[in-house]
Amino acid sequence: MANRRSEQLTLLYSREEIARRVQELATSINVDFAGGELVIVGVLRGAFVFLADLIRQLTIPVIIDFIGASSYGTRTETSGQVTVTKDLQVSIAGRDVLLVEDIEDTGITLQALIKFLQEKAPRSIRVCTFIDKRERRVTQQRLDYVGFEIREGFIVGYGIDYADHYRELPEIYRIDTIESDDDK
Ligand code: PRP
Repeated sequence: MANRRSEQLTLLYSREEIARRVQELATSINVDFAGGELVIVGVLRGAFVFLADLIRQLTIPVIIDFIGASSYGTRTETSGQVTVTKDLQVSIAGRDVLLVEDIEDTGITLQALIKFLQEKAPRSIRVCTFIDKRERRVTQQRLDYVGFEIREGFIVGYGIDYADHYRELPEIYRIDTIESDDDK
């Protein structure tokens, strides 16, 4: 007898809802940075889908780069260590930076990335995340642009994974795991 883990997906945000919210976020960014230029920094890997949609709704000039981070320990640890696995390729010294994330959870990754980026002397750093799991936050970092706030549970799709799967889904789903017996 083996236990098989299956996953049930429930639609949370449709393609239309996502597109509408991305447009709203882009409009705010266009207004806030009108006349300026932005370096958009996507946090690998999850942010790539949101970033791709967001930048195509921007009317200001942008430079795109990516940063990689990996965290160690469990998600409930407040002392999580974050290592930068991929550094920027462009210089951000004296520039306005928009850090783009798919999801904020504890905030530990974000806090570490901002500290890392601040050492490169940008003019400003703002943060844009598509999903904010605010209830899980253990840091104080301010989020400047937020797509949706999720109260509890796990979500997948639109770049967000569960055990490395489901990033390709165009919509966002809540995911519930169900234990089932093979011999039933
Ligand atoms: C996710 C997400 C954030 C981080 C948020 O990345 O993209 O970077 O976790 O978690 P935190 O607020 O608790 O630090 P993940 O480490 O899952 O990597 P991935 O983007 O490659 O899936």
